[in-house]
Amino acid sequence: MELLKVADIHTYYGRSYILQGVSLSVERKEIVGLLGRNGAGKTTTLKAILGLVKPKKGTVTFRDKNITRVPAYRIARMGIGYVPQGRGLFPLMTVMENLKTGMRYGYDSEGVEEMLTLFPFLKGRLNQQAGTLSGGEQQAVAIARALLTRPYLLLLDEPTTGLMPLFVERLRQTIARIHEKGVSILLVEEKVPFTLTLAERLYFMVKGRIIHHGTPQSLKETPEVFERTLGISL
Ligand SMILES: Nc1ncnc2c1ncn2[C@@H]1O[C@H](COP(=O)(O)OP(=O)(O)O)[C@@H](O)[C@H]1O
Ligand SMILES: [Mg+2]
Repeated sequence: MELLKVADIHTYYGRSYILQGVSLSVERKEIVGLLGRNGAGKTTTLKAILGLVKPKKGTVTFRDKNITRVPAYRIARMGIGYVPQGRGLFPLMTVMENLKTGMRYGYDSEGVEEMLTLFPFLKGRLNQQAGTLSGGEQQAVAIARALLTRPYLLLLDEPTTGLMPLFVERLRQTIARIHEKGVSILLVEEKVPFTLTLAERLYFMVKGRIIHHGTPQSLKETPEVFERTLGISL
């Protein structure tokens, strides 16, 4: 069943025509990848879903509700978690203070326990300033904060950026575990192998348009897509 449906959205930054008719969907309990070069419009697509950028044309539907004109703060409450590019933590606040900004209904002790199980290293770090953690640890805190909003859908914007290979592998396992718990995920990435091992379906974006989409299996038959959209050969 469809959880999120983006239908033919067109967006502008001032006069710049950025998203030029983007359509994609995420089914319940699905991990979907969105790949494209720097500047293709991936982040803008996430912002349009979140209501941070309002499309001039087209619709965004989430859990059968048209959210195209719904304000961003209400969309977040409807169950879309967001981990922005660069993580968006408050560096001078402690880990716990950062986590609390994700809690919608007061202190969520059960949620914190779950996050300590998912990210055991957090146990000794709750009172540490978030800005003093390593890149991988900050990424974990950002994901934990988004999960504490209890989302149906998690939007991850380039979560592997700046992570050492060991942390990338841990993040892959973390995303797989979050998915097993029943959270749907829209994963924006530039790292192709990482995305191919996680996503059940992938969309390829070039200059504000989706130019191809398929399953990792079907993409083996069209390897030229990677060359055409990302400039890499597999
Ligand atoms: N706030 C903004 N104002 C004007 N142009 C922007 C803004 N944000 C992004 N853009 C432009 O929109 C295009 C798509 O950007 P973005 O969605 O960030 O791409 P991606 O996430 O795929 O790298 C780029 O050409 C970028 O320069
Ligand atoms: Mg981006």
